[in-house]
Amino acid sequence: MDDVPRLRERIAGWRPEFEQKLAALVELPTVSMDPARRPQMDACADLAASYLRELGAEVDRVTTGGFPLVVGRIMRDPSFPTVTVYNHLDVQPADPAEWKTPPFSFTRDGDRWIGRGTTDDKGPALSALYGARLALEQNVRANIQFLWELEEEIGSPHFEDGLAAAVAGDKAAGRAGLGTDSVVVSDTIWIAAGRPAIPYGLRGLMGFTVTLQTGAKDVHSGTTGGAARNPIGELAALIADCYDARTGRVKIPGFYDDVRKPTAEERRGYARAGFSSKRFKAAHELSSLRPAKNDLELMEAIMARPTFEVHGLVGGYSGPGIKTIVPHRAEAKLSTRLVPDQSPAKTFKLVKKFIKSRCPQAVVTHEASLAPYLAPLGGPYNAAAAAAMRETFGKEPGFTREGGSIGAVLTMKRLLGAPVIFLGLSLPEHGYHAVNENFDWGQASGGMELFCRYFHKIADLGGKP
Ligand code: BES
Ligand code: MN
Ligand code: MN
Repeated sequence: MDDVPRLRERIAGWRPEFEQKLAALVELPTVSMDPARRPQMDACADLAASYLRELGAEVDRVTTGGFPLVVGRIMRDPSFPTVTVYNHLDVQPADPAEWKTPPFSFTRDGDRWIGRGTTDDKGPALSALYGARLALEQNVRANIQFLWELEEEIGSPHFEDGLAAAVAGDKAAGRAGLGTDSVVVSDTIWIAAGRPAIPYGLRGLMGFTVTLQTGAKDVHSGTTGGAARNPIGELAALIADCYDARTGRVKIPGFYDDVRKPTAEERRGYARAGFSSKRFKAAHELSSLRPAKNDLELMEAIMARPTFEVHGLVGGYSGPGIKTIVPHRAEAKLSTRLVPDQSPAKTFKLVKKFIKSRCPQAVVTHEASLAPYLAPLGGPYNAAAAAAMRETFGKEPGFTREGGSIGAVLTMKRLLGAPVIFLGLSLPEHGYHAVNENFDWGQASGGMELFCRYFHKIADLGGKP
């Protein structure tokens, strides 16, 4: 790691093949939400396996009840510490009509690449892989493993089964069980460009739908209006009963009971992280924000407070003009983001009870649940990650919580019995889940160096720090 200019030159030389490999990943539309994408999911698992093999890894494609889990292992010496890198290769859907470029084509625009999955999470996955390549060339005294999931964007429904199978190993096939000393996840965002963050927590998620049917068919609003119930209107009223959309305040009794307040130390960390509501607004192209006293309050609203959100309200007529009907059915797609110590199961019960008390005919269906995650601040791995960030990007990282959710994290912690830390490479303006999602060479090349440095620091920690 002494000759930094040479290292950076080596990375720069890899750019063409990195772009080619990322392009091949992005051009496979691995939309895990869409059952029709099975062939593309399989093709992506094969491609990912080939990338890992090229690096010298032993690869297993763990079959699960859903899409496969790709496991790559580079076991150099049992006396070395083992680090496992987690990324996901499935993506969110994308509507080509809304994008400037075709979402499943890899478009180059100077140092920027545009396409669904470039930043969430194919670009970071490949950057970490190249970081491992660098470290291995330098004979790093660590074993490096990769866990690449294809169901993250649907809440990791089969990750636990897949990981359990990998941990158990397969004697008949001569495959040793998977173990690790630590895990590093690269699937999070920085506070802003030039303001790296190392999160130590994630919000949980409880997704659900509410449907209401008030008749067998849509009917004329002139002949029935006044007497017929309107399911869209009633769902809108129900949603307004659940929360104040202007402030975000949830009105469901008991909802906030288990919310743990961030500590004074955490708050100091947030204040130092370099968050600015102005930059936040610009990066996400939001024209205005909910009222807040100051930037710290906004940060806490994203990182340390739960939310109630409406993702979709489906029903009635949405074509051109106005069709004068009273709809007969409507569906609301909803979720709450949860923070420690809220429980998804308890929250679902509370929400369902409240909604049924207001509207007994509403059908409340649970969709997905992920518990919130909070790790202790500090420790040798976070210190190593912070040092690697500092040396690579010349900036002190902020220690913050992440507002999003990653289902695999708690499962890895539990089944692998190892600490999980986060080394994300995405920026707010890369547009997670948004149109024109993108990633850039600065974050990719810096990411390779960052991971290379991190692996060396892990090696320096030895087997059991
Ligand atoms: N990479 C994100 C998680 C994330 C979001 C990290 C925001 C940092 C900031 C991940 O791919 C994701 O989108 N997770 C989903 C999970 C859900 C669909 C079960 C999420 O958070 O909505
Ligand atoms: Mn992601
Ligand atoms: Mn995502």
